Amino acid sequence: MKILGIESSCDETAASVVENGRTVKSNVIASSLEEHKLYGGVVPEIASRRHAESISAVVKEALLQAECSVKDIDAVAVTYAPGLIGSLLVGVNFAKGLACAAGKPLVPVHHLRAHIASNYLTSDLEPPFLCLIVSGGHSHIVGVNGYTDYIIIGRTRDDAAGEALDKAGRVMGLPYPGGISIDKISPGGNAEKYSFTHPKIDGAPYDFSFSGLKTAVINIVHNASQKGEELNIADLAASFQKNVVECLVNNFEKAAVNSEYGKAALAGGVSANSLLRAESKKMCARHGLSLYLPELKYCGDNAAMTASQGYYEYLSGTEAGYSLNAYATMPIDNVIF
Ligand code: KG4
Ligand code: ZN
Repeated sequence: MKILGIESSCDETAASVVENGRTVKSNVIASSLEEHKLYGGVVPEIASRRHAESISAVVKEALLQAECSVKDIDAVAVTYAPGLIGSLLVGVNFAKGLACAAGKPLVPVHHLRAHIASNYLTSDLEPPFLCLIVSGGHSHIVGVNGYTDYIIIGRTRDDAAGEALDKAGRVMGLPYPGGISIDKISPGGNAEKYSFTHPKIDGAPYDFSFSGLKTAVINIVHNASQKGEELNIADLAASFQKNVVECLVNNFEKAAVNSEYGKAALAGGVSANSLLRAESKKMCARHGLSLYLPELKYCGDNAAMTASQGYYEYLSGTEAGYSLNAYATMPIDNVIF
């Protein structure tokens, strides 16, 4: 079964054809990232304009590279939540038009479920497993009990890990996205130079909080500039990254030890982080758990993961009508459409 996936939740316009949820036939991405760099973050209006301009060509190219036409597609899967509403609407409306014109089923896909599915594209991973989802907008520890069955074990109380890394990178004067910049310069810095307090949330041992760490790094930068002191940015980046990764892996470890999953996976843009990947490997080795990591090309936003999850959603009977709407927020474990 061939699924055409369409993704436009943030600043990537993406389309992909995936066979039987696992075999990627094409994976096309047009990004407006370079333009957003000028502003130090994603400008929603620019992102939706660029989606509208490029979606037609991106979908055409995905079909071309997969050597098929829309007639050969079994269903159109589209990210409908969560994300930037103006961006999501471009993909949703395009998918609705295409599904209607071609007489194909329309399958709504939750973006975080799709990030989890990025693991299905390069390994034989099957539920049940434990997943740490870390992206620009979300940080969750989720039990993936089935392809469309999830239980939230932990979540962030404030900023997502990616958001904290991006804001910290910005205050350090690094190019957007800060998460990638911090990952790049950290190996050249001393990660022990600065220490940060790890937040503890009473009664919620698996929940995260990153706003305190973010504020601490902002204060370090502001204090130094007020005193006219020059900071070693590589030291600060390395220390900050180390602490963010410790917070993530500590809770992931607690959740893994206190559950019976036996298999663990990472997902989301921040899962490309080299320290997070290395520390997760060590943690899983300590406890005899199998660790699954998405290939780097599937960590960030792409439509192959949307098509993969779309396949499993379709098999479970998920199909939307042409009244399908987009939603800026939506829980992973209880979707409506
Ligand atoms: O999943 P994603 O592409 O978009 C959302 O759904 O949010 O995640 C984007 C986030 C950004 O915060 C970016 O800084 C972060 O992923 N990111 C990284 C790395 N690559 C991307 N963070 C740390 N290290 C990386 N190598
Ligand atoms: Zn994403």
